[in-house]
Amino acid sequence: MEQDRIFVKPVFTQEEIKRRVTELGAQISSDYREKNLFLIGILKGAYPFFADLSRAISLPLQVDFLMVSGHRIVSEMTQNIAGQDVLIVEDIVDSGQTSAALKKELQTHNPKSLRLCTLLDKPHRRREKVSIDYTGFTAPNKYVVGYGLDYKDKYRNLPYVAVLDQISEEEETLLYAP
Ligand code: IMP
Ligand code: MG
Repeated sequence: MEQDRIFVKPVFTQEEIKRRVTELGAQISSDYREKNLFLIGILKGAYPFFADLSRAISLPLQVDFLMVSGHRIVSEMTQNIAGQDVLIVEDIVDSGQTSAALKKELQTHNPKSLRLCTLLDKPHRRREKVSIDYTGFTAPNKYVVGYGLDYKDKYRNLPYVAVLDQISEEEETLLYAP
């Protein structure tokens, strides 16, 4: 029978993610108290992290989104970020190419400050040097899915982060069972 490549075991559970997101939200709230926080979520991968993190920040803030595909920015900002304290919210920094391109592009819009927050940092395969200001977790050197991260555009809606492995189609359906 054909096997789907899919995860078996959560590496970061729902509870761990929730706790860490709360901590990051508190840290960001404190760091940006006197500033004009503007969160930019990177789609598609950052959508669950963005929604949870933004609600864990107890400050008035603005949001916008950029769509990225294959290290390239494929959408445009809808708001002006000049003079704003911009915080990029990403799912994962792997080679660093996407983050480097994002920082370069956003810098041309003259924000007052520009920082980077990522749910996961996978430092093992870094090709571009990129400074990360807020990290949720350091990921293992493996392909991970869930909580926004995809494999062939699936598994983004899993509420936890897990490592891909081999399981059957039957087992796959059980992963979504309540
Ligand atoms: P980078 O440009 O190599 O740093 O990574 C950019 C994108 O690669 C991320 O935003 C993800 O969409 C994808 N990516 C890298 N590693 C993983 C992984 O382990 N699981 C799922 N997506 C990944
Ligand atoms: Mg992806």
